[in-house]
Amino acid sequence: MPITIQPIEPDRPIEFGAEVLGADLSRPQTQAEVAAIEAGMDRFAVLVFRDQRIDDDQQMAFSRNFGPLETASGDIMQGAARRLGNEVNDISNLDRDGRLRARDDRARLFGLGNMLWHSDSSFKATPSKYSLLSARIIPDHGGNTEFADMRAAWDTLDPALQTQARDLVCEHSQLYSRGSLGFSDFTAEEQARFAPVPQRLVRRHAVTGRLSLFLASHAGAIQGWPMPEARMLLRDLTEIATERRFVHVHHWRQWDAVMWDNRVTMHRARRYPSDQVRDMHRTTIADTGPTLEQPV
Ligand code: OGA
Ligand code: MN
Repeated sequence: MPITIQPIEPDRPIEFGAEVLGADLSRPQTQAEVAAIEAGMDRFAVLVFRDQRIDDDQQMAFSRNFGPLETASGDIMQGAARRLGNEVNDISNLDRDGRLRARDDRARLFGLGNMLWHSDSSFKATPSKYSLLSARIIPDHGGNTEFADMRAAWDTLDPALQTQARDLVCEHSQLYSRGSLGFSDFTAEEQARFAPVPQRLVRRHAVTGRLSLFLASHAGAIQGWPMPEARMLLRDLTEIATERRFVHVHHWRQWDAVMWDNRVTMHRARRYPSDQVRDMHRTTIADTGPTLEQPV
């Protein structure tokens, strides 16, 4: 069956979020299938694949069609403490033995940072191109994921603000995002691993040529700007970029797989009951290089 791609909310003024029909992520993809999915990503930025019963090996193999995988070096759990392999981000509330994490569990508290608007791995020198999130176990309510279209947000900024923003360089770090929630007991090793990296505030998409904001709760400073002024501009832009008219809400079903373009979107997890298991596995495809090396 050939792949078809249908907008999820066809009556909206922005093209954002589509469902892919006829794809089977568990098996090798043809070149034509990969090209169709990439074209869908370029247009809709968020693609939903329903009923994909995949394991981590299949998820990694599918993801590699779109570029090299990142290692999960941004996770707080490293080495022997990890529940999943080194190329799979553990987006769950489970410990290594598959038990629910306690309320005061450090990894759980760190993971709450996913409820802040962000773009995956914007805190890495080379950030992420795509993420693919597979829903293995979901709670009986809550736990939606929201996506914001930063191309549409850019398009609606007034020209004076566009001019002001266009050449700015931000500093991104998980120390900033987690710090904004009061999570600050980082070890010396973590402080070094999470040292801020520079990222352009405005990017041009490599294929479509569209401009977009590149924001995340990881952004905590603007080069050359006084801190409060920088934080205030970032807050203002984030408020605009996450207006409901730019947001698509995904309501998970078990075995959904959702892929998004981190270069042009932000996303956040929503609250769910803390006594229920939510087990999501994420593979992350690296971009081609630091944003400062990409022309605007
Ligand atoms: C992620 C993430 C949101 C969610 O996987 O990168 O932010 O709803 N997930 O779990
Ligand atoms: Mn994320």
